Amino acid sequence: MSTLLTGITTSGTPHLGNYVGAIKPSIAKSKDFKKNFLFLADYHSLIKNQDPELTFKSSIEIAAAWIACGIDFKKVIFYRQSSIPQILELNWILTSVTPKGILNRAHAYKAAVDLNDKTDPDSGINAGLFNYPILMAADILLFDANFVPVGSDQKQHIEMTRDIAGRFNNSYGETFDLPEPIISTDTPLLPGLDGRKMSKSYKNFIELFSSEKNLQKSINQIVTDSLMPGDSKNTKDSILFEYFSAFLTQDKLKEVEELFKEGAGWGELKKMLFEIINEELIPLREKYEELVSKPDTIEEILLAGEKQAIIQAENKIKEVREKVGIKPLHG
Ligand code: TRP
Repeated sequence: MSTLLTGITTSGTPHLGNYVGAIKPSIAKSKDFKKNFLFLADYHSLIKNQDPELTFKSSIEIAAAWIACGIDFKKVIFYRQSSIPQILELNWILTSVTPKGILNRAHAYKAAVDLNDKTDPDSGINAGLFNYPILMAADILLFDANFVPVGSDQKQHIEMTRDIAGRFNNSYGETFDLPEPIISTDTPLLPGLDGRKMSKSYKNFIELFSSEKNLQKSINQIVTDSLMPGDSKNTKDSILFEYFSAFLTQDKLKEVEELFKEGAGWGELKKMLFEIINEELIPLREKYEELVSKPDTIEEILLAGEKQAIIQAENKIKEVREKVGIKPLHG
């Protein structure tokens, strides 16, 4: 029986890139698996920011976004990482079998070091960032996940999880399955307004559930060239066309391609794109607004998921503790 698992760090407001790249495909994929675990990586969030208000607000917004977009709770166990203490127990046990050297080689840590002066390479880097891959391995291995959908930036973390699981198995006997990443190639990555990766830090993102007005405004800011209405436009290298691709079926996309060729104006095309995206978001936005205004409903949904997650977590941690020699002291 195959198990799918993925986590979302609660360090921001969900944007359209998260919707196209993670929320929508994960919800669709969950239908193909017997068991699905989806969780808010709120402990991972603490590594990225020390702003309690941001972490709290982001937990509400990200949970609300996923629920509004239609998680099927018959198939998906939805929970907070912080509500499953066994993750942290496993985190420690895995820390003890993880060679420090593999953490030195993690891209995220190395990138932070590279930004620093050579005389103080670890300046401003917390140990959480260094140990980040172990916590992620604990998230995955505790639930015996076989497949982990992630962005391509997370691929190395899954390789490290496999490495850590293998080392544990070698020392203590077969305990963990080695998970495979699922890196979506069929969903094109949605670029930011300026064509770079959509990201909070570049301020080039479109909030997923802002007002219609804001959505329209953001779409108007998508960078285009200076071709006039009547001029034939190339779809290749067009940021706007990539947005169309993310939201339309192949057939409909062909029609848009024609419009580009025939010389539709950028303003007209942007209006069209707004209508397509907005129509898809209207029902979801309504649900989202309702949930965010009543976080108690979200809390209840999470508590129900956590009740189920804890059962599996307790069983697994018991097995792991016994394997390492931590168990009741009788004969
Ligand atoms: N590190 C992931 C990200 O930033 C989030 C995450 C935490 C995760 N734990 C995980 C993803 C376990 C998959 C599995 O995107």
